[in-house]
Amino acid sequence: MMNIPEEVMERAKKNIAPFDAEGFVLGKGQVPSEIMMIGEAPGENEVYDGEPFTGRAGKELDKQLSYLGWTRDDVYITSVVRSRPYKWEKRPKSGEKRKANRKPNQKEVKAHAELLDTQIRLAEPKVLLLLGGVAYQRLIDEKGKISEVIGEKLETPILTYDRENDRYVPSEEEYIVIPLYHPAAVFYNPGIRDSIYESLDRLNSYLSS
Ligand code: URA
Repeated sequence: MMNIPEEVMERAKKNIAPFDAEGFVLGKGQVPSEIMMIGEAPGENEVYDGEPFTGRAGKELDKQLSYLGWTRDDVYITSVVRSRPYKWEKRPKSGEKRKANRKPNQKEVKAHAELLDTQIRLAEPKVLLLLGGVAYQRLIDEKGKISEVIGEKLETPILTYDRENDRYVPSEEEYIVIPLYHPAAVFYNPGIRDSIYESLDRLNSYLSS
């Protein structure tokens, strides 16, 4: 169990309230945890289940974990944003309106920045696995392209949110950070499957050396 201060939880819920984002899914896993995986935001399934990565992306994540010889008990899993950002979409045939998942925007990322910083502090990870560009830009390089560093082992400070001055500042502490594809990326781009497994092989070799 991760004991997140009540005031941090309350602020996160209050900050996200003005946006089209629903539910509130905390992370899951061992605390402390040597390895922390950070995704983007929960989707419809996760909000329904109250757990991260229980939908289609989660099945892909489980495949990748088992390729590494891990289970979810070996890691702490969370996301940059804890609520599900949605947009209204019209079904082409029936015209029926429904909510579709979407990427969180910068304001939503900021709404939960203090919460993510707190989760990282409490999980005390040595290694941060960033699943996708949203996590990479939030923690490493606001305008950076994750595709340029996929599977690399970075030893670096991470960006933390300074609430008083409303800006992101580098942490004093350095972490081992490995940017990886978001597990859902393969659904949009099946051609990257080989590259995903190459980056997992690299990850395995860093962590076992
Ligand atoms: N994508 C994420 O980043 N997190 C989830 O929990 C589910 C999908």
